[in-house]
Amino acid sequence: MTEGKRVVLGVTGGIAAYKAAELTRVLVKKGVFVKVIMTGHAKEFISPLTFQVLSGNPVFSDMFSQEYYDMNHISLAEYGDVMVVAPATANIIGKMATGIADDLLSTVLLATKAPIVACPAMNDNMYTHGVVQENIAKLKKHGVQFVAPGYGELACKLEGVGRLADIADIVEAIEAAWTEKDLRGEHILVTAGPTREPFDPVRFITNYSSGKMGYALATMAARRGAEVILISGPSSLPVPRGVTFISVASALEMRDALMTHLEGTTAIIKAAAVADYRPAVLSESKIKKKGPLTLQLERNPDIIAEIGAKKENRVLVGFAMESEDLVENARAKLIAKNMDLIVANDLHQSGAGFQCDTNIIKILDPQGGVEEIPLMDKMDIANRILDRVKILTNAKRS
Ligand code: PMT
Repeated sequence: MTEGKRVVLGVTGGIAAYKAAELTRVLVKKGVFVKVIMTGHAKEFISPLTFQVLSGNPVFSDMFSQEYYDMNHISLAEYGDVMVVAPATANIIGKMATGIADDLLSTVLLATKAPIVACPAMNDNMYTHGVVQENIAKLKKHGVQFVAPGYGELACKLEGVGRLADIADIVEAIEAAWTEKDLRGEHILVTAGPTREPFDPVRFITNYSSGKMGYALATMAARRGAEVILISGPSSLPVPRGVTFISVASALEMRDALMTHLEGTTAIIKAAAVADYRPAVLSESKIKKKGPLTLQLERNPDIIAEIGAKKENRVLVGFAMESEDLVENARAKLIAKNMDLIVANDLHQSGAGFQCDTNIIKILDPQGGVEEIPLMDKMDIANRILDRVKILTNAKRS
């Protein structure tokens, strides 16, 4: 997915050039091959040696250097799966928008057929200037993707918009840029995380779900071009880029959010660990300790069963977290709740289920099929589930 991909990183002359070193390090750590092109101004801010050491490749800058001519057989314009400009100054954005090719970076940017991700960073007066905004709008029309700068203290000590976006956001944009958009046209609703069922203002019943499985599904579906709504119970994970995010706490809130957004969805994937029960009484004040406490619980609505009952043409995928008889229990839920697929994960298998970055799953279908997917990263697991969803949505359409 990411390992083995190739990025050409253009670094231009702004104070945020030092952050491009961290971007290089993060990409290389993910197994990406990075070649760096620096403008002359960038070299005033940071030494080429930094990028050479971090990328493990020579750094290119001069169009007419021997180095560049020596490697011409692998042209830089053709090398990258994605070209990134970080930081992108007003100057390079202006050159890109007007087709100026007067140094190595601007020439390669014009010559490449690879997707381009530009990450502006500059003073806020420059960034909000009409000319810069027009240039950005023009480049967007030509397919250049922008990772918008953030708000905060700028190098000039003023506060404003113009700080280079977070490295994690830039990496996400790069990974999205080389991903085939095979889910374009799909409207996928994903639920993730635990629910919280309160019984007084400070206490609640919950479970161990971190949200990782559901967030991975939302991330990969968005990368693959789907419109994604992520309805999440409490989680500390960052909101995936490019998704519509709805934060909920209890099962009842999750149900309301889901029913509100059901219209227009082509697939629903319920990775959330929804509490089956909630305290029957919610005390308005904190319950004092005085001996044993008995909580009366009442059933929460079975959200997936409700959707299954009025599924129409949508693809409905549930999860099953089981501690015994994984396949039998999962199959019973699949049939009873009218799902198209159920993803079974085993509570007792190491590397599967709650909290970890990996999962081990079995995908069951109503025809009796069982696809076994061995231990892998939740992002890869998400892709395997989405591959199955894609087949089903296509089949339902035809
Ligand atoms: O979040 P992570 O830490 O990454 O962990 C991932 C996970 C283990 C939570 C995930 O992989 C998973 O298995 N989620 C479903 C867990 C679960 O609640 O299983 P269940 O067998 O209780 O529920 C079956 C299905 O019905 C689920 O799709 C669930 O979302 C849905 N459900 C359950 C109860 C309820 N009241 N309404 C529902 O819609």
